[in-house]
Amino acid sequence: MSTNEELIGRADINDIEAILAVAAEEGEENVRAVKDNADAIFTWDYEKGRRPALNKLYEKAKHAQWNGETDLDWSIEVDPLELVEMQRHSFGQTPETRAAQIAGTPFEKWSDKEFDQLGIESNNWMLSQFMHGEQGALICTAKIVETVPWIDAKYYAATQVMDEARHVEVFAKYLDTKLNGHYPLNAHLGLLLDDIIEDSRWDMTYLGMQIMVEGLALAAFGFMHQMTTEPLLKKLLRYVMSDEARHVAFGVLSLKEYYAELSDAEMLERKEFAFEAAVRMRDRFMQQEVWERMGLKPKEVLPLLIDNPNRLLFQQMLFTKIVPNCKKLGLLDRNDGWLRHRFEELGVIEFEHLTDTSDEYEAFALGDQELADSAIA
Ligand SMILES: [Fe+2]
Ligand SMILES: [Fe+2]
Repeated sequence: MSTNEELIGRADINDIEAILAVAAEEGEENVRAVKDNADAIFTWDYEKGRRPALNKLYEKAKHAQWNGETDLDWSIEVDPLELVEMQRHSFGQTPETRAAQIAGTPFEKWSDKEFDQLGIESNNWMLSQFMHGEQGALICTAKIVETVPWIDAKYYAATQVMDEARHVEVFAKYLDTKLNGHYPLNAHLGLLLDDIIEDSRWDMTYLGMQIMVEGLALAAFGFMHQMTTEPLLKKLLRYVMSDEARHVAFGVLSLKEYYAELSDAEMLERKEFAFEAAVRMRDRFMQQEVWERMGLKPKEVLPLLIDNPNRLLFQQMLFTKIVPNCKKLGLLDRNDGWLRHRFEELGVIEFEHLTDTSDEYEAFALGDQELADSAIA
């Protein structure tokens, strides 16, 4: 079994210095190349519906297509500061405003102006990472089309490629036309996307992307959807989530069959990969780039925030989809509960009893009325 050091590069998962040592790439490069190390697999078994659950997803996906240009009302004007105020109203006190009450912290001298700017930067940062993550999903799902050996899965993945193109498109458009500035790819998210893309095994693409990254995205989008009353972003998130739930279900339904056949040694590799992904995603939410842009040293800010109850609650909420899905796949309890213990360490094991996404994805689907409205728009 691998140690924390081998998996995530540090012994203590809360070691702030080590977390911050992973920095975003500088540079003007407009492209980034990652080796994908995989064979493209043809199958000669064209029998549609051999895997009924995947076939059903594929038929649903064909029916659920929407158009980011015409189904969202881009004439709505968005004031980035108003967006921040709405979120404050829903969320109540933020960790930062609480920290401001502590004498001797970097926040002590901040006025409303700096806290407003922090809110604006945090939204730019969050939506930028969503956008980059969506591009990761676009690339990973194109890879699944090539590498998965089952025709029903190739068909479904092809619809997901289209979904992800639409998601990148709408997040980029929202950032470009309604907010004011992108952030580059967060280094922790970058490491995770590289790991997923570089792995030659087709199921690892699913585990990294559909189960971990998209499982987290589904929870994070749901949270943001609840917090915001800005009508354009709210509808954008609602539409994206209707696709995202299907994508996570695609991961669960495909891997459930495949994992049933794997040995304990093979399963352990999957668990370690899932744990590494979980820690990378958690690290990214330290949003170190935002602190730097605000002129603060992340090393001074993060210790103030790391134990804040609001922040911990948010961080744990990100795992509400991941944990029950890992359980459904048998990842929690084989190998003497290795992953169960890691999730206990992260404080998220309590979510194991929630409904898994393969059982709840249909509840996220757009209703016929919503799809009909969008066809007219
Ligand atoms: Fe997506
Ligand atoms: Fe997705």
